[in-house]
Amino acid sequence: MCGIVGYTGHRPAGPIVIEGLRRLEYRGYDSAGVALFDERGELYIARATGKLDALVQRVEGTLPPAVCGIGHTRWATHGEPNDANAHPQLDPLGRVAIVHNGIIENYDVLRKEVAERGGLFSSETDTEVVAHLLAEHVARGIDLLEALRLVVAGAQGAYSLVAVSVDEPGRIVAARVGNAGGIVIGHGDGEHLVASDLGALLPHTRRVSFLEPGEFVDVRRDAVAYLDAEGQPLEKAVEEQPFDAVATAKGGYKHFMLKEVHEQPVTVLDAMRGRYLLHPARVEMDGLPFTVEQVRALTRVVIVGMGTSMHAAMVGRHYIERFARIPAEVDNSAEFRYRYPVLDEHTLVISISQAGETVDTLAAMDEAKRAGCPQVTICNTPGAQTTRVADGTVFMRSGPEVAVASTKTMSASMLLLHGIALHLGRMRGTLDPEVEARQVTAALHLPVAIGEALEMAPHLQRIAGRYAQCEDFLFLGRGLGYPMALEGALKLKEVSYIHAEGYAAGEMKHGPIALIDESMPTVALAPRDEVFDKMRSNIQQVRARHGAVIAVVSKDEHALDDLANDLIELPAVDAALVPLVAVVPMQLLSYYIALVRGADVDQPRNLAKTVTVE
Ligand code: BG6
Repeated sequence: MCGIVGYTGHRPAGPIVIEGLRRLEYRGYDSAGVALFDERGELYIARATGKLDALVQRVEGTLPPAVCGIGHTRWATHGEPNDANAHPQLDPLGRVAIVHNGIIENYDVLRKEVAERGGLFSSETDTEVVAHLLAEHVARGIDLLEALRLVVAGAQGAYSLVAVSVDEPGRIVAARVGNAGGIVIGHGDGEHLVASDLGALLPHTRRVSFLEPGEFVDVRRDAVAYLDAEGQPLEKAVEEQPFDAVATAKGGYKHFMLKEVHEQPVTVLDAMRGRYLLHPARVEMDGLPFTVEQVRALTRVVIVGMGTSMHAAMVGRHYIERFARIPAEVDNSAEFRYRYPVLDEHTLVISISQAGETVDTLAAMDEAKRAGCPQVTICNTPGAQTTRVADGTVFMRSGPEVAVASTKTMSASMLLLHGIALHLGRMRGTLDPEVEARQVTAALHLPVAIGEALEMAPHLQRIAGRYAQCEDFLFLGRGLGYPMALEGALKLKEVSYIHAEGYAAGEMKHGPIALIDESMPTVALAPRDEVFDKMRSNIQQVRARHGAVIAVVSKDEHALDDLANDLIELPAVDAALVPLVAVVPMQLLSYYIALVRGADVDQPRNLAKTVTVE
């Protein structure tokens, strides 16, 4: 079945349409394409045979700043799967673009008539003739929606059509004929979407309308109008989509957050695909457009991000210094842009942004650009702003992350920073190939290890039940455990509204210890590493003041059995990769506590998935 997505509003249409198509991938398809209005109101068209990644690669860095466009995943019926037969299909002058689902049974008759009028075809599809016919009517001054009605009147079969015209950027018209794939309209704030399937709309709105067979819709950024089969105006209800339909997009999980936490083994695998190689074991990162000379001339790396992305950056800093031996620092994007940073062309700036639209991270990137810094961005959203500013993009390939609290994309970011550090280290000649091989082999084990960590979910749920009513939490960690402490505290704040602080455990005596009493539990990241004994003494200090301790330890660790109130054992992984398994209990603990407290896990109060304003 083909997938259709259209968007018109005020946000970047490219990423929204492509993400929408990704949510329709389950329908099965063999090519994909988009038509987007660029800032001049011209149509930008991109089509690619194969999976969506092929299209994503093709549009990487070239998507226009469009606020209206349509997209399609095609499951070939007429014409083999190739670029010419992919949708959107255009008229010869590129005046209209159309995507189609279903079959136009008399398309050969229509094609013949158009050919007799001199029309030239560039595809074997049944769809293309609709573009020709539509363009002919529009060229005669007929309104786009009326033109669509005229075309439908002459086209037999069961199908859905969605079309745009360069004469009216921002306007999308659609028709549903017979019982082919439906057309759903999503009603947002100052934006509207159309899609063949509810799933593509859900990340944006649950207020939807459905076209019945024979009906037409005229969609603009701030208005939607319907026509019935006779062309008469039609009123249609806007339905608040019931939970069960949203549930289908959750794949059976109660919340998107839980689904996305459980996707992490695949997320990490997808992030490594084609980048973590064997024979010999090495990392080849795409998205690093720098020569060996440029990399060897680097004197510093600055990694910027916000929220969870910044915590991933802190893990990445460890990797850059350890494996690439380049001085590295991390900055919250909002702080970076206002601290008069000393930057030059030998400072590599790595930005991390799942959505690629975070205003502070974009501003930090502009600051780096002004200073002439080479830039790489790690992003989960093709065509997002950050991918157009950086010199290179390393895509997370995590698929849509719908829950507001980032989970799987943090794992992807940490893994990619690991890969970037190894790659840079090899380019600089500072990385022993043995070390690289060991790290690659260890990383390839992660999907299994993360899967084992997920099997702790029932154990985490039991622990959550014991602490869900606490109003304050302290998270402590050292080294790579410190960003995990920060992330665990952030997750708990985000989804359960509990006041939680993450602290470098060494700071314990410099303040936080004053907070400890029986009402304030402490989560201590205490894997068996070079600072384990120091973490053990931190735990003793907390217990001495009647604070409960939830200790996150290595597998089969028993040195804390007499100390901690609860133990969470991590699957065995290379010490450098502990954050990729330790983050899982941090996510699950906060999720299950939020569940007990009845919080709105996927869309916590006051939070937005992407902060596009300061
Ligand atoms: C917040 C999200 O709005 O932005 C967090 O709720 C996220 O989950 C943060 O970590 C940064 O977003 P991004 O897209 O720049 O990684």
